[in-house]
Amino acid sequence: MIVFDETRKLFHLKTRHTSYVMDIVDGGWLRHLYWGATLEDWHGAACMPMMDRSFAANPAGTPQDRRFSLDTTAQEYPAHGNSDMREPAVRVASADGARISDLRFISYRIGKGKSHMEGLPSIYVNEDDEAETLDILLRDDLTGLEANLSYSILGDSDAIMRSVRFTNRGKESVTLEQAMSASLDLGGIAGFEALYLPGAWSRERHVERSPLGHYRHVVESRRGASSHQENPFLALLAPDTDETHGQVYAMSLIYSGSFQAFAEVDQFDVTRMAIGLNPFDFSWELAPGEAFQTPEAVLLYTDEGLGQMSRSFHALFRKHLLREPWCDTERPILVNNWEATYFNFDEEKLCHLIDTASDFGMELMVLDDGWFGHRNGDDSSLGDWVEDRAKLPHGLACIADHAKERGIQFGLWFEPEMVSRDSRLYREHSDWVLSAPGRPLTEGRGQYVLDLTRPCVQDYVIEAVASVLKRVSISYVKWDMNRHMTEVYTASLPARRQKETAHRYMLGLYRVLESLHEMFPEVLFESCSGGGGRFDPGMLYYMPQTWASDDSDAVERLAIQYGTSLVYPPQAMGAHVSAVPNHQTGRCEPMATRVLVAMAGTFGYELDITTFSEEERQEVREHIALFKELRSLLFSGELYRLLVPEHHGDAVSWMMVSKDKTHAFLSYVQLLATPNPPHRFLHLQGLDPHRQYRLFERLTTAAEHFPQVPANWPDHSFADGAVFGGDELMRAGIWLPVLMGDYQSFGWELKAVEADEFQEGQEGAGLR
Ligand code: DGJ
Repeated sequence: MIVFDETRKLFHLKTRHTSYVMDIVDGGWLRHLYWGATLEDWHGAACMPMMDRSFAANPAGTPQDRRFSLDTTAQEYPAHGNSDMREPAVRVASADGARISDLRFISYRIGKGKSHMEGLPSIYVNEDDEAETLDILLRDDLTGLEANLSYSILGDSDAIMRSVRFTNRGKESVTLEQAMSASLDLGGIAGFEALYLPGAWSRERHVERSPLGHYRHVVESRRGASSHQENPFLALLAPDTDETHGQVYAMSLIYSGSFQAFAEVDQFDVTRMAIGLNPFDFSWELAPGEAFQTPEAVLLYTDEGLGQMSRSFHALFRKHLLREPWCDTERPILVNNWEATYFNFDEEKLCHLIDTASDFGMELMVLDDGWFGHRNGDDSSLGDWVEDRAKLPHGLACIADHAKERGIQFGLWFEPEMVSRDSRLYREHSDWVLSAPGRPLTEGRGQYVLDLTRPCVQDYVIEAVASVLKRVSISYVKWDMNRHMTEVYTASLPARRQKETAHRYMLGLYRVLESLHEMFPEVLFESCSGGGGRFDPGMLYYMPQTWASDDSDAVERLAIQYGTSLVYPPQAMGAHVSAVPNHQTGRCEPMATRVLVAMAGTFGYELDITTFSEEERQEVREHIALFKELRSLLFSGELYRLLVPEHHGDAVSWMMVSKDKTHAFLSYVQLLATPNPPHRFLHLQGLDPHRQYRLFERLTTAAEHFPQVPANWPDHSFADGAVFGGDELMRAGIWLPVLMGDYQSFGWELKAVEADEFQEGQEGAGLR
């Protein structure tokens, strides 16, 4: 519900469990008052009073009161140059070169629904009844620049979606130099910590937490992609916040390019938090009558810890970001040939992989890099999306047909945004790449970035991909992107507008993706950027899953998938079982552990399945059958993290629980084994405390050839078949079996039982 109190000029947005309050102060500036747990009403008990502070300048015009300065006012969308010395949300240069703006309230509108953001990914609703939107119009009188601040809430979420649309109603051009999607000033959280997801290629989204100080804590990408190095997400947490307790203020940006998020604690311990396009190397000229739309930010508050924050993001993204049909459609079990063959494959090898996959019960075979041009390494042929007849003499259609005959689907890899120096496309269109006059081109992986700001290049990319998808029966596309932007310059813009290039590239990319989505809605697209270099909500809008990392090592994945799961739902996270020794780390984990970790995501295999021994083949068949049984729970259940990598160095554990709490799957992975171990207990989460659950051991490494638990010790199966109370499992916890050997694991299924089954179960398990 969104209400406006005319007398107090006060806006109050109420989501299911939160309130967001702001008002218009004398003079017409928009003030932030409160964001937190639901309030019946706001009476101003926590309102920061106006005080005459030294070195706090008073803005010109009303109210001419020395106690009033924008520098000491909690603002909702602060502009640069008019007395607020903190980092602004918006900075605008007018035609005369002045960089001052003063946005004041003009009008507001509250209405049902949430409008579609033309050309940009965003949270969507199918029916107007699902959402409410508040639009607040601000204007800078001198330049005529208007800013429409948009706030949307949904009936089934605590999220608040914010974005800004600028329109130049003046007579002269203005240039936006900074245009954040959301900004607000929070009192009372100066001792909080920032949580963010930094990383690197193959080490994406490792959770980091650091205390906020009196400085500007910036999380950003300047790479032309959301990047492996950072993620468009920032949360501020009360210092004692953990998975189940504590206040969290989170912001996520639905965008895939260079972004910035920051938290700045000011001199009076007020914290400004903002997220949006990175102002670095950005500007956007607005001629009279033109408009500019910022990407959308998602704001989430909870006082129930990080677990609840994640479940709120997951629910929102599953229902209102991932597009139909993929928001509700379970994903096929795939085998990808990359780590099985790299570039070294032929028709026979692919058919063998397909036959084996089909025999195991897999459902999709994905042909990765190397099928086109004359690509036998990573330095050629990008852009020439035609089969390499040396490897595939009968073409792609023959492979797709073979897959169809074996009852499985066929998927294909592309890297459409790039061109290799050694390619026909580059020879014919060397002017189609991002490049600056007179500057030599920087190469990354032997390739250049196509200039997607240009409609003709966008059309080429759409056509190149579409023509293959029309010609061959393909049900899945892996869309890769393997370098960041350099020479960010386009021949399509005049000199003064060059800082628009990176954002125009993203708009061009989004146009390409939207067109392909419209043409092939049934094709499952997986986004990839050298692994998880563009794991962001923007890409998820067009492609419902992202390959989480090129690091397929199960132990490394525990950290990567933990960080990823803070914001992104499991069905968006590409995860595969890979070979041992692992190709990135050389580590060896038992097969069941690799399976358990991949089951936390979309689940597939990425190793040479044709070389398995008979024993391994049997094991794989069983794992696949198990995944199929659990798939709907894992796809639609809610995630509870029990032991997270950062706090529990010796083990990681998580659960998926069905929404009605009758069914759950618990995963536990030990890292290094401990000799003569102390007793440990695992406290489950998310169950119904009033129900009883029967526990089934479904997956264990004990069966593999690792040192066995001493014969007189209770083993993994100590609780198999037993019935326990949900309250007991969550409050008392369950005794953790001793696991001999590093990287051992188990997966337990829990099913709610009827009351009369309880007695029977206890007796059956010998626990009475
Ligand atoms: C990077 C991806 O992340 C890998 O999975 C693989 O597709 C390679 N590119 C192929 O070049």
